[in-house]
Amino acid sequence: MKTLILFASKYGTTKKCSELIAADLTDIEISDIQTATDISLESFDRIIIGTSAYFGRPDKKLSDYIKQNQSILLSKKIALFMCSKETSLEQTINKELYDHAQYKYHFGYELNISKMKFMDKLVTKKITQVSNDESHLKLEQLNELIQSLKIS
Ligand SMILES: Cc1cc2nc3c(=O)[nH]c(=O)nc-3n(C[C@H](O)[C@H](O)[C@H](O)COP(=O)(O)O)c2cc1C
Repeated sequence: MKTLILFASKYGTTKKCSELIAADLTDIEISDIQTATDISLESFDRIIIGTSAYFGRPDKKLSDYIKQNQSILLSKKIALFMCSKETSLEQTINKELYDHAQYKYHFGYELNISKMKFMDKLVTKKITQVSNDESHLKLEQLNELIQSLKIS
């Protein structure tokens, strides 16, 4: 089954999760929504969509892309995952796509403070009192998705 992972990631967490999934599956391509130029959804049987959340929302470019390509996405097998502290896919992702998706996962989050732009760093330090990089990824959830994808 030909699979595409389409992701949005600001400081690398969702990208890292996407790469971990891709490394364990065959016949798979991976695409960053920020840099992708022509994504041909038609040529894939299964699309895995991953995003992080900022200020209660998933990535805008990815959300717009989902809206614009809703009908073709609804004709494919879909897996969704989110990297965030508390914002959920259910609260934020296009409802039709969420209902259609075969797999929906929350992988937890990282605070990559050393990579953050000034304002994001300031907000993060103020809200969380954290000043060093932290990882709170649920790798067991990530592995569960990989195993499910392998057999489906
Ligand atoms: C400025 C800022 C705002 C954030 N807002 C949210 C939020 O509203 N909800 C949430 O669950 N996580 C929030 N987070 C946590 C990120 O979703 C988390 O750091 C995630 O791992 C980032 O993934 P990325 O590097 O792939 O973008 C925020 C992080 C930052 C730095």
